[in-house]
Amino acid sequence: MTTPQAHSDEARERVLRAAGIDPNRVPEHVAVIMDGNGRWAKRRGEARVFGHAHGVESVRATVEAARECGVRHLTLYAFSTENWNRPKEEVDALMDLLVQSLVRETRELASKGVRLRTIGDVSSLPKACQNELIRAQEDFTGEVHLDLILALSYSAKWEMVEAIRGMMQDGLRQDEILPSTIDKYLQTADLPDPELMIRTSGEHRISNFMLWQLAYAEFHFTSVLWPDFRREHFFEAIRDFQNRERRFGAVPNLPQT
Ligand code: FPP
Repeated sequence: MTTPQAHSDEARERVLRAAGIDPNRVPEHVAVIMDGNGRWAKRRGEARVFGHAHGVESVRATVEAARECGVRHLTLYAFSTENWNRPKEEVDALMDLLVQSLVRETRELASKGVRLRTIGDVSSLPKACQNELIRAQEDFTGEVHLDLILALSYSAKWEMVEAIRGMMQDGLRQDEILPSTIDKYLQTADLPDPELMIRTSGEHRISNFMLWQLAYAEFHFTSVLWPDFRREHFFEAIRDFQNRERRFGAVPNLPQT
């Protein structure tokens, strides 16, 4: 007799296959640069904040699509260290949006096995944000289906400086500093590197995002602006990933001669 869980897994696999996705080759970790909120709003004659507010719906759709695909870790670049240089009203609105989203969404996410965590200099966020983040993380109990990692007040250069300071503080000798040591001192120490990085809005840059961890990631760039990004666009990125040949610097498998 099939259990309800096995039944729902089978149904999910059927949906993925029908969408042209191989459920056995889904990336374990997907990272996303959510870009284009400002332009989306401008095209509608609205303030940039309008685009950010609509971007929350895309966050929801992306988390759901990632969970449906069986992705285990999803990192969203929500606020960079450089974003502090935006006008105060935009920064304040983004922080409010974050708090509201955490208040509104995290209980439901937790009930679906989505566990929240962060990377970045969280101590620089307003207290209300920090408190909601702590609350959301403490509230989570149960089985984890997806880790939702919000990069907040994050940049890769900031992270690397922190890692180097950490290694120096621990008095590491030169010969102890290996790529695997650096992995351990980064914010993502317990996470696998992303295999796929998606950037929306047609920009082809990585903007100080996970520079170390993306060393071998496949990049998927789409011209879709973030507030328009939905499940079908996420699926498209997964199909694109599955069509790539990942060689990690080695030669392709050639037929024996
Ligand atoms: C980049 O678009 C987007 C951001 C800096 C903020 C992303 C925030 C959200 C999607 C909303 C809240 C997030 C969560 C996790 C609840 P941009 O403003 O740089 O757009 P532009 O390039 O068109 O100006």
